[in-house]
Parts: sequence; structure tokens; C-alpha cells
Amino acid sequence: DPVATPDISTCGPADLPPGANVLTCCPPPSNALPVDFAPPGAASSPLRTRPAAHSVSADYVAKFNAGIAAMKALPADDPRIFAAQASVHCAYCDGSYSPEGFPGVELQVHNSWLFFPFHRCYLYFFERILGSLIGDPSFAIPFWNWDAPDGMRMPAMYADRSSQLFDTRRDGRHAPPKLIDLDYSGREPRFTDNQQIDHNLRVMYRLMVSLSPTPSLFFGSAYRAGDEPNQGPGPVENIPHGPVHIWCGDPNQPGREDMGNFYSSGNDPLFYAHHANIDRMWSVWKGLDARRHTDLTDLDWLGASFLFYDETPKLVRIRVRDVLDTGALRYRYQDMPLPWRAARP
Ligand code: C2O
Repeated sequence: DPVATPDISTCGPADLPPGANVLTCCPPPSNALPVDFAPPGAASSPLRTRPAAHSVSADYVAKFNAGIAAMKALPADDPRIFAAQASVHCAYCDGSYSPEGFPGVELQVHNSWLFFPFHRCYLYFFERILGSLIGDPSFAIPFWNWDAPDGMRMPAMYADRSSQLFDTRRDGRHAPPKLIDLDYSGREPRFTDNQQIDHNLRVMYRLMVSLSPTPSLFFGSAYRAGDEPNQGPGPVENIPHGPVHIWCGDPNQPGREDMGNFYSSGNDPLFYAHHANIDRMWSVWKGLDARRHTDLTDLDWLGASFLFYDETPKLVRIRVRDVLDTGALRYRYQDMPLPWRAARP
């Protein structure tokens, strides 16, 4: 059977690391039952094009800042508030839920085939909340284009100390113009810039092409209702997804907060740009080989479901099958070159 998020009133204490700076990750309760997700209509939802974060205009940055500021300024018990968005991630990653019907078993959205679809849903609602708060239903969140040389630095708008997008809990050594290391292990590589770029392109080729020839390899291990969590990540979840988190987090914090820990990573606005590129990689991977790179057809994948608050805010049950087509979700990604396609080792 598919994994299903239980009634949110069963949300329990999170299994937080020592020194954690929050007490709980549970969303505000809902006095109504969740409604089933319905795809947004084209009439009310213009197609959003998510831009590469390093390529946006000053107007865009100002708008995005206003949106994050508006999210941060909501009342503390409003499920759309920025801090509650970060808790959503914590609740689904640090053991606050058990899959419906399996009390005592941890529900975990990482390290399995739920990784890509869960995070797609998460960004979808985040983006719609942000757009609705600034009155712009076409507003699209940016993606951190770390797979191409021009995007291999922390995008400037996140590094501006006066910005809503700044976070003090980051690794100070990795502010721009430092190039990211896509398979960062916690140790600083000794590369020249050109070597680092070349290395990163090869990492991308390895993960997206060599190690991801089939859907079951790309998406990661099956994870069904009642299974123990962490059945096994797909190659892209493993690298560069994990290393980018570690590279951003502050090594002087006890848990490498914010980006370096599940419970806290959603507190850094950079999280959503990192994950937009991860989400883009799902679309890119499908486009690399239309015949063989397909979504999974296993009903336990397609039927897995999560609960999120939408922009209205009401509680919505969304299933993996609802999010396979980004067009139906009314967004796409700005076309960018894929230089790693030629970086065969
Ligand atoms: Cu839910 Cu990048 O982790």
C-alpha cells in the first residue's frame, strides 16, 4: 500500500538533534478535514516560469524579498508563515508522523522514491503562498542553477546581508565568489576554479546519466506503508542534493544549521532555490531520454500522499500522481544549457 500522511492531529514530538533551536515541528491544527488536491485551472493560474537565480532582474529580487517578508510577517499561528513552512520539512523528516495505519513507525520523505515528489509538492505550495501574499499569481520562485558554471556560486541575492533572503547560519567561507563543490564532503577541495567547474560537470554527468539509466535507479528505493524509513536514496538525492546542503550550513552550529540539517534547512530561503533545481533535475532527466526516462508506474508510488496547507489556507491531501506533470501544476523552468551532458568521464 502507499504511504499516507495521517490526520495532522497525530503529529508528535520531532526527533531533534542535540542543541536544536526549535521545540516542535507540527503544523497548526485544522478544524476541517483535508480536501483532495485539485489541479489549478489555467484561467486562475497563469503559467509560472521559474528563473535561474543568477539571471534575475533587480525588480524580481525586490518582489521576491517582499514575498518572503510578507510570509515572515504573518501571525504565528497562520500555517502559511515562513517559520511554519520550515516546520513542514522538519515534521516530515524528523519523525513527527507515522504513516497512516502504522503508529510507531517513522514517516520519512528522504532516502527513498518519495524524495522527488514530496519536495515538488512542498515547493508548489510554498510558491503559491508567496505569490498570493504579493498579489501576483504568476510569481515563480528561482532555481539555483548549480549544474552550470554561471550558477555555481551562491546566488548574489541570497548573500546580501540586508536581504530577507540572507541567513546568518551559513558557512561564511562559502559566500560568493566561492565556487560550490557538488560532492562536498565537509573538507575544502584544493581545486582551481576551472578544475572545480570541470569536476562539478563530471559529477552531474555521473549522477544524472551514468547512475540513472532507469526510473527505479533514478527515483530511489521503493518505500511502502509499514516499511521502515530510509530504504535507500536515488543517486541525485545522494549527490549533489546532500552535499549542497552541507556546503551551505554553518560548521560552527551544533547541527550544521540551517541548511545542513533536516529540521532547520527550511529556515534558509536558499533551501527553496536548491530544491527548485533538484526539482528541475527531475524534469531534465525525463527530457534526456523520452523513451526510457519515465516516471514510475508502481501504484504504491503514485498513490503516496502528503498533507499541506495551501495559500487559502486550507489543508490539502496531494498524491504523487497529482504532481508528475509540471504543466498541470502551472509552472515550468527557464531553459538553460546543460553543459554537463558533454562531460562524460
Ligand atoms: Cu528535504 Cu534537501 O531536503
